Amino acid sequence: MDLFEQLLAAARKDRNAMRGVTPELLTALEQSFRQGNTSAPVPQRTAVAARPEPAPALEPVPEPALQKTAQTFAAPAAADGSSLEEMAETVRTCARCELGRHRQNAVFGEGDPHAELMFIGEGPGADEDRQGRPFVGKAGQLLDKMIAAMQFRRAEVYIANVVKCRPPDNRTPTPEEACLCIGYLVRQIELIRPKVIVLLGATAAHFLLNRQEGITRLRGRWLEYNGIPVMPTYHPAYLLRQESAKRDAWHDLQLVMAKFGKSYR
Ligand code: URA
Repeated sequence: MDLFEQLLAAARKDRNAMRGVTPELLTALEQSFRQGNTSAPVPQRTAVAARPEPAPALEPVPEPALQKTAQTFAAPAAADGSSLEEMAETVRTCARCELGRHRQNAVFGEGDPHAELMFIGEGPGADEDRQGRPFVGKAGQLLDKMIAAMQFRRAEVYIANVVKCRPPDNRTPTPEEACLCIGYLVRQIELIRPKVIVLLGATAAHFLLNRQEGITRLRGRWLEYNGIPVMPTYHPAYLLRQESAKRDAWHDLQLVMAKFGKSYR
């Protein structure tokens, strides 16, 4: 047994220690362990099959959350909620993480519940926190222009964020905060079932798609989330600071327009 297998065996003895540990997490842990420990021998499949003791059945994951390893996450699970209204009510008083203690208002998201186009940002800023609505500050004004340029009305798309409460000083949400919150977003997507999702910035791609690359590498090509085409592009707040990136963002948005049979004239 190498060190990883010894750790695994010890953890399996203690069922409590295994609560919430999914097979995906174990695989990710093993990969990350082996990457950092190239001297550790990789057991052959036959050796695994020959183990005398079968692993005990794992208990279901208690929280609809991502499982965190060093940098990667298992697929996020949806939060409970039979309708958007019901979930918005839950989010209004959510106390799953520290962010809830500092908010003025939770920002659930808004738009057409049957929207074909959905935009996903990172988290509310000060203006959004004050108004309880997503993308209503300076970045939001630019997003409005982007939506209009795409020949959509804001009311006919849906806009949401990875985290529903404002991170202090507009910092990036921590993995813990994102993990505890993203189940709401996953359920929003399940309920809305958009035809296309636009991810605004790297944070959304990181936590929803488990992509580690920066947005410059990710943007401008189609990815997929549960069968839904996803286009990552620059966050409008970045575009406000970096005017020269607008050209690339417009390229990305035109790819999205083409999916809807729209083109710029
Ligand atoms: N930035 C975001 O990512 N989301 C908002 O709602 C506002 C600013």
